[in-house]
Amino acid sequence: MARVAIVTGGTRGIGKAISIGLRDAGNQVAANYGGNDEAAAKFTEETGIAAFKWDVSNHEACLAGVATVQEQIGPVDILVNNAGITRDGTLMKMSHEDWQAVIDTNLGSCFNMSKAVFAGMRDRNFGRIVNIGSINGQAGQYGQVNYAAAKSGIHGFTKALAQEGARFGITVNAIAPGYIDTDMVAAVPPNVLEKIVARIPIGRLGHAEEIARGVLFLTGDDGGFVTGSTMSINGGQHMY
Ligand code: CAA
Repeated sequence: MARVAIVTGGTRGIGKAISIGLRDAGNQVAANYGGNDEAAAKFTEETGIAAFKWDVSNHEACLAGVATVQEQIGPVDILVNNAGITRDGTLMKMSHEDWQAVIDTNLGSCFNMSKAVFAGMRDRNFGRIVNIGSINGQAGQYGQVNYAAAKSGIHGFTKALAQEGARFGITVNAIAPGYIDTDMVAAVPPNVLEKIVARIPIGRLGHAEEIARGVLFLTGDDGGFVTGSTMSINGGQHMY
């Protein structure tokens, strides 16, 4: 059965692989993006998947964005809260703006987007929400008080909303990726990244498609008994 899915940050990196994976599994996918029009246009040209621009840190924009997707494609069955940014720096050097931007984009977005789709999922007695957390939300990371706090918050958000959704056929889960070979990780200074990779037992960065496969399991019919869980996909870097 074709279901309608929204993937936030769905045109690049891990989100792009999730959008393609969900489409290939037979779903109708709307890929949200925040700013990079060029990458979004290239993504749509390459994949045929429609891209929709709005800022997931903005509550009203999320309500309007979801309404547009529902008008153009249909009621949303699957939501993947993937959009995220980094503004790394030690607490001593981090501005309040860098703190707030990461909290609002990475964690606030989960509230904004879930709020926009949850009532409809309840009415239709079916929903799948997957929130992309991070190994750094589980274990912490030097230079990431903002990101670690937001991602850790995602894990708590997931367990709370899972309890609210369960009796309405809505599952809510998180995936905690480790270091994946995306632009975000490529921005880590090479000498720092080298030390991080040395601590990954599997001995390499992960691939975006390896995260997408987890999303496919959690959003598919086979994942119906899994809710409130966190799937760690990190090459053994943090066993949690
Ligand atoms: N533990 C303890 N000390 C550390 C440390 C660590 N992990 N990392 C650095 N330090 C120390 C350094 O040794 C250095 O000490 P000295 O001055 O005594 O030599 C001091 O802290 C300052 O280090 P830097 O020179 O690195 O400081 P900086 O201000 O130039 O940079 C930073 C700080 C921006 C945080 C930089 O270290 C960095 O970018 N780190 C990587 C952070 C990271 O992993 N981000 C992940 C991004 S990807 C992602 O987030 C996706 C995901 O979900 C996994």
